[in-house]
Amino acid sequence: MKVLVSDSISSKGVEILKKAGFEVDVKTGLKPEELKAIIGEYDALIIRSATKVTADIIESADKLKVIGRAGTGVDNVDKVAATKKGIVVMNTPGGNTITTAEHAIAMLFSLARKIPQATASMKAGKWEKKKFMGVEIYNKTLGIIGLGRIGSEVAKRMQCMGMNVLAYDPFLSDERAEELGITKTDLDRLFSESDFITIHTPLTAETKYLINKDTIAKMKNGVYIINCARGGIINEKDLYEAIQSGKIAGAALDVFEKEPPEEGYPLIADERVICTPHLGASTVEAQENVAIAIAEQVVDYLINGTIRNA
Ligand code: NAD
Ligand code: MLT
Repeated sequence: MKVLVSDSISSKGVEILKKAGFEVDVKTGLKPEELKAIIGEYDALIIRSATKVTADIIESADKLKVIGRAGTGVDNVDKVAATKKGIVVMNTPGGNTITTAEHAIAMLFSLARKIPQATASMKAGKWEKKKFMGVEIYNKTLGIIGLGRIGSEVAKRMQCMGMNVLAYDPFLSDERAEELGITKTDLDRLFSESDFITIHTPLTAETKYLINKDTIAKMKNGVYIINCARGGIINEKDLYEAIQSGKIAGAALDVFEKEPPEEGYPLIADERVICTPHLGASTVEAQENVAIAIAEQVVDYLINGTIRNA
């Protein structure tokens, strides 16, 4: 059987596929028309986030049995079109959880202490000690929207740093909240009491523009916002305006509605916004985890017909 790996993944994953006896082609950076032209030869397609598996690509995928995403979100796959064609879509949601939680926490500290701005200032030859006054996070309230895998890991770690944690998640049970020692709350309370808000939900019809001018109005003055989940959960125009007015003191963004954003995008140009180019899952460990997991899952499916998302 033939497997196409169309985004770069750790070589450990490729080795597993080859050891299982598959013919593996690693072809990254394909244009949509190039992928469409060759997809018909393959039994499995392994992707990260760059490859967009549209209905048009799927139409030509006549032998394809499985699409494996080395990562969490499967937003770059047309799942309806894949399902109609009998193609299984699988992901590896557990492999980058800790790494992404650590990234969100790094963003939170960077926001509180203006570390990226101070670094840029020193690299420009300046010594602006007064300009970069920070805030402590100790005894502050952290509002977590979405208490799944990543949100829970953020909660556990930030409780150890002395933060009071509030969480909003419509699917969170009272038992789980109690087990984590966090206060389960509604969104209005989370907005009105949090000093920092971090988002860890998928992008769905319910979470699209969850952070917008109306919800921002309910927040504390001077709140900080972190988004390492998905672009589109925050209305970026409303966020920009709230930062200009001082309502929001700063934002840390790893994900954007359009990736990469336009050059000179005002939100990114603003000094109170710190940002990373969708690096949440980018550690050696996480990339090995997701590559190994997706390779094993694809092997299991093609050989034994077993479906799992590790
Ligand atoms: P998860 O499924 O384990 O957790 C998501 C949580 O969001 C669930 O507990 C769910 O109940 C909750 N939720 C769903 N709808 C909600 C709503 N309307 N309001 C509040 N909560 C809601 O997912 P995860 O692995 O923790 O990932 C969280 C997000 O992070 C996803 O969007 C994922 O794609 C993203 N992610 C980003 C990176 C990155 O590189 N930046 C890396 C990994 C994951
Ligand atoms: C994910 O969904 O796992 C993340 O967006 C990370 C990525 O693969 O870039």
